[in-house]
Amino acid sequence: MLDPETHDHATRMRMLLYGQLVSRVICTAVRLGVPEALAERSRSAEELALQLVGHAVSLDRLLRALVPFGVFTEEADGTFALTALGRTLLPETPGTAQPTALLLAGEVGRTWTDLEHTVRTGDSAFRRQFGRDLFEYLEQQPERREVFDRSQEAGLRLELDEVFDAVGFERYPWIVDVGGGNGHLLCELLARTPGSTGTVLDLPGTVPLAEKRIAEEGLTRRCTAVAGDFFAHVTPGADLYILSHVLHDWGWARAVDILRTCAAAMPAHGRLMVIDLVTDGAGPDGSGTEGAVPHRLPAVMDVYMLSLFGAAGGRERTRAEFAALLADAGLESEETKVLPSGMAVITARRR
Ligand SMILES: C[S@@+](CC[C@H](N)C(=O)[O-])C[C@H]1O[C@@H](n2cnc3c(N)ncnc32)[C@H](O)[C@@H]1O
Repeated sequence: MLDPETHDHATRMRMLLYGQLVSRVICTAVRLGVPEALAERSRSAEELALQLVGHAVSLDRLLRALVPFGVFTEEADGTFALTALGRTLLPETPGTAQPTALLLAGEVGRTWTDLEHTVRTGDSAFRRQFGRDLFEYLEQQPERREVFDRSQEAGLRLELDEVFDAVGFERYPWIVDVGGGNGHLLCELLARTPGSTGTVLDLPGTVPLAEKRIAEEGLTRRCTAVAGDFFAHVTPGADLYILSHVLHDWGWARAVDILRTCAAAMPAHGRLMVIDLVTDGAGPDGSGTEGAVPHRLPAVMDVYMLSLFGAAGGRERTRAEFAALLADAGLESEETKVLPSGMAVITARRR
């Protein structure tokens, strides 16, 4: 006779294990285009199969699997409808999870199949699967680069309001977003800070994406995109340098190199701002109770980084580790704000 507690744990453990399948089912629905097909009205699996070129009986079983998870509802007439949770898989929903699903369905999911290799050897599973580092790969795959940027943008969209609540950007007339991707953070920042101008610096492959974005936002007179390598040179003389979700991609020595390049570009009055997850963000300040997203996210994201970049590469860090990184690059942190999501905004100046 199993005692109830063991029974409960064994059941919960199975659900954790089946989480991989749940994720795969969602990714498959996204790759097939199911959320978009249900955006306007509910449809039956037969109708979806005709429209999306699928196998009706299999599709019916796929969609049914997501009903208990609150992604779809099954209506009285047997059709499936998107719930509010399911609508986050639509590309136009603010903070959409669609590009993340597309990454998990592709390179990231493939990388995770090699996690055991990473844990046994410390090598990057991404490099083993794709023969080069993530950002080199994305430089050669413009379509996947675009998906990556949309995923970054959507993730950041969830943090933007709390970042803007925490920081007054109007005190910085010229802002350089280092490793700023397609410019999504900078464009949003400039839209909210009409007196500032900006420069987004990233690898050459992202510049056309950033230019397109800047033009779409009507910001061409206040914002430029430049190609650069943040290990070599960063546009000098700006009032603020932002490193948003950049340092966690790199091991200690490389992260210090990036900070040093930024420090060399900073004028005496300049500031550097690190926006990144901190592993000790949740806790005594009440920002993360056990089981809540801010409590669990850093642990999961750290293994995500491990699989992409290997043991000597990127990782999530504590506040003290960020302060020590800054110190190694000749910078000192002036202010650290930990946001409810578990992100930290660390402002630093030259020592
Ligand atoms: C995780 S993304 C962060 C993007 C953006 N800052 C954000 O918060 O969403 C890291 C960025 O660093 C860029 N990057 C990687 N290596 C670089 C290099 N050597 N020089 C400049 N940018 C680089 C990548 O292309 C990518 O856009």
